[in-house]
Amino acid sequence: MAGIFGLEGKIALVTGAASGIGKGIAEVLAEAGAHVIVADINEEGVASEVERLRAAGHRADGVALDLGDEHSIRRAVAEVVGEYGVPWVLVNNAGVQDRQYLLDETVAGWDRAAAINARGPFLMTREVGRAMVAAGLGGRIVNIASMTIDGMMTKGTAAYIASKGAVAALTSQTALEFAEHRITANTVLPGAVMTPGAIGAKGPPTEGPARRPSPFGMSEPRDIGAAVLFFASPAARMVTNQRLAVDAGWSIS
Ligand SMILES: NC(=O)c1ccc[n+]([C@@H]2O[C@H](COP(=O)([O-])OP(=O)(O)OC[C@H]3O[C@@H](n4cnc5c(N)ncnc54)[C@H](O)[C@@H]3O)[C@@H](O)[C@H]2O)c1
Repeated sequence: MAGIFGLEGKIALVTGAASGIGKGIAEVLAEAGAHVIVADINEEGVASEVERLRAAGHRADGVALDLGDEHSIRRAVAEVVGEYGVPWVLVNNAGVQDRQYLLDETVAGWDRAAAINARGPFLMTREVGRAMVAAGLGGRIVNIASMTIDGMMTKGTAAYIASKGAVAALTSQTALEFAEHRITANTVLPGAVMTPGAIGAKGPPTEGPARRPSPFGMSEPRDIGAAVLFFASPAARMVTNQRLAVDAGWSIS
């Protein structure tokens, strides 16, 4: 796909690309011509997603990493830069979605969400950002937050929603500090997507505004991928510090 949505010759590092939304993002970016790096804690999932993308004729490689562990992140980013080159786009997608009512939430539960969903994206942005700045070629950071921070709430997400609010705030600061390096930073806010992570999330059932059906029904992982592609593409070269909700029209329901 050449033109303003083409990513030929660009490296796209996608975290959490062994499952759900991350798979959809990886697929869409690969179809646009990107060399996709599948980054995930699930090593078998990384291997099978790389295989799936290659079988479809795309360029793909993988790296295992634990977003809860700074050392693991530093090692993985160094490996990617050393073996394949500096990513053009970093997609901070991986996240955990377990729920607990606020009155029952534990420090361990809060810290897990904060470490993987917020500190992980910060460390990825710092490490990949350093490589982007050193290369001097500009770049794109796309963070996956959630429509839960913009009203599509469900009970039991105190730790989760706070971690996603942190990611959205991180995007703004990234946009501010990276602008002089021609690196944009934007946020995608998915609504409901039926993924292994969403279906398997532990904790209370969906209860709250998120129960309201969206006019267009359920989004697919590729719908989120399309929004990511926009921010990653040449078409969005003048777009930074923005949020794009992919919520199937939930806000008008
Ligand atoms: N599914 C939804 O309805 C929905 C809605 C809004 C936002 N989101 C967000 O979209 C993102 C993807 O969610 P999903 O529904 O595809 O979930 P998923 O569980 O299906 O996929 C998440 C991936 O992240 C990986 N991961 C988890 N912990 C990790 C760690 N410590 N280090 C590296 N990788 C790790 C998992 O192995 C998995 O492959 C998440 O950030 C989630 O919060 C999802």
